[in-house]
This record gives sequence, C-alpha cells and structure tokens, in this order.
Amino acid sequence: MTNHFTLRVNGADHDVRDSWLGESLLDVLRDRIGLLGSKGACEQGECGSCSVVIDGELVCSCLVMAASTIGQSITTVEGIATDGAPSDVQRAFVDAGAVQCGFCTPGLIVAVHSLLESDGEPTETEVREALAGNLCRCTGYGRILEAVERVVVERRR
Ligand code: FES
Ligand code: FES
Repeated sequence: MTNHFTLRVNGADHDVRDSWLGESLLDVLRDRIGLLGSKGACEQGECGSCSVVIDGELVCSCLVMAASTIGQSITTVEGIATDGAPSDVQRAFVDAGAVQCGFCTPGLIVAVHSLLESDGEPTETEVREALAGNLCRCTGYGRILEAVERVVVERRR
C-alpha cells in the first residue's frame, strides 16, 4: 500500500508520493525528499547518525514512521545552517577537529543544537549524557566535547 502526503521539513512543505505505509522518516528524507544529511547506519535506534528534531524533540528518524509526522515540524541537519552558512556548532566541530570520517557528524550536530537549546550551559557530564546515543568510531569523543565547550564559551560572550 502506498501513500501520498506532505511533510514539513526545515520550514518547507515537501510532497511525498508513493511512500509505503510503514516507511521510515529516515528513508523518506533521504530517498524521496533528497535530504542526504541524515545518515543511516544501524537503522535500529542505536547510533544516532539519523538524528532529527520533531516538534522540538530529538529523535532517531530510523525509528519513526514518516506518515506519523504529518503536521509536525521536522528539522534535519540541512535546516541548521542559515542561508548556506555553517552554524556556530558546525564551525566549532571543524575548528576542534571533531570531524574525521564524518559519518556520525550530522547526527551529532543536530543533537548538540538540541541540547544547547534546552540548556545553554551544560556540564561535561550533561553533554556526555546528552550525546550518549550518538556513536562515533573515530574521534574518541574528546574533540566533540571540546567543540561543544567552544560553542558554550562563544555564546556566553
Ligand atoms: S541509523 Fe538511526 S539510530 Fe542508527
Ligand atoms: S567521525 Fe567517524 S564515526 Fe565519528
């Protein structure tokens, strides 16, 4: 059974055609809307590479049925840059050397933005807890924590 519906992604409406009823939001974002920033690694809710924000809540898009998000506001990593300019979090990841293979990076960027929206001054423990669902095999996390700290300090100024 296929569906035709509209999803609101990064402030714009996107027509989705021929999606099958149980299709994941991750697959619809990537394969039908063409937003390739969200990555599919485990597709089981274990790695966070597919993280997006739905109505203010950080979720793994691989675990969400796309059709269940009709009428909600979805933000992907593509919606975080403004007019093509990287956000402070994106810049900090590059400056701190927190991007290596980069596969985990979009999910981490979305997760860090989400964290800093709810808490602008998180402790290191809070950052570690908030990012515990985002797996990175390359960096050892030190540079990711440094990137978050850079943003916190910069925003404080
Ligand atoms: S691909 Fe969604 S959590 Fe891993
Ligand atoms: S930079 Fe390679 S998995 Fe994180």
